[in-house]
Amino acid sequence: MVKKTDLYPSAIEAIGNTPLVNLARITRKMDGRILAKLEYFSPGFSKKDRIARQIIADAEAAGELAAGQTVVELTSGNTGTGLAIVCGIKGYPFVAVMSKGNSVERARMMSALGAEVVLVDQLPASVPGQVSGGDLELVEHETQKIVKERGAFRADQFQLKSNFRAHYLNTGPEIIRQTGGQINVFCDFAGTGGSFAGCAAAFKEHNPAIRCFVVEPEGAAILSGESVTYPNHRIQGGGYAMSLLPLLNPAHVDGYLQVSDGQAAEMARRLAREEGIFAGFSSGANVAAAIGLLQTSFKGQTAVVLICDSGLKYLSTDLWE
Ligand SMILES: Cc1ncc(COP(=O)(O)O)c(C=O)c1O
Repeated sequence: MVKKTDLYPSAIEAIGNTPLVNLARITRKMDGRILAKLEYFSPGFSKKDRIARQIIADAEAAGELAAGQTVVELTSGNTGTGLAIVCGIKGYPFVAVMSKGNSVERARMMSALGAEVVLVDQLPASVPGQVSGGDLELVEHETQKIVKERGAFRADQFQLKSNFRAHYLNTGPEIIRQTGGQINVFCDFAGTGGSFAGCAAAFKEHNPAIRCFVVEPEGAAILSGESVTYPNHRIQGGGYAMSLLPLLNPAHVDGYLQVSDGQAAEMARRLAREEGIFAGFSSGANVAAAIGLLQTSFKGQTAVVLICDSGLKYLSTDLWE
């Protein structure tokens, strides 16, 4: 295992092995613990650096990516940032295709890291900062067009097993090691579902009694079978109201939880003020969901969550007023 104190040949090796922190202040009046994995410690300040590294490594190993070939992917910003870092270091030109609804910091950061950023207009009824499944379809269409035009490798985060593998091989086992395996419950806000799927598979392999819950936005909880009444929620990076997530294994889903925009934002603010953890909406959603678990069926137990990315990625939004 590479340790953070080692000398690395590149920033790629600095991806992962992130700290796990006990949210002892937020939970002080509760029975139970929430352990939070600070994924903004990776070079691109998000958990998606892990999948970028894995997608490129797996494609190289399978002979699917030729030296100097262009890589293209649809992104809400975090996967694109990871790919910009990995592709920049390895010499693959990278094109990030993103909805204009995602925060502007993300596009600027990807450009700074050497990516070509293609921004796609939102649907006429959509609102900046609120990317819907419909907006994402437009981005998907543009991505497919660019892949064809440039003969590019599609780093398809919704389809490629590498997304799952990044978390199955690394994030999950790191948490098991850091907790000594003492975990009762895991909950995770799903975008592609790769983080949930990989961690849940690792946890259940370690101990089938560990319960795993998918977190969805209130009003866009399609995976739990509800109809979508609020597709333009604020929790960036997921909750796209896609009824099928190919990476998700239903056998590993013990239940579904819902979090509102307000709960996610309020918890992100509490994380900053009370725990010194500067994160985004989806991290707030994960912690809010975990609190709900500790207050009901999992009293006195240990929950683990991912702190998906940095609050710096939301400076242009009203998350921080
Ligand atoms: C900030 C943020 N949170 C949550 C997610 C969802 O993660 P996953 O795609 O592994 O389900 C993403 C994915 O892009 C993200 O960027």
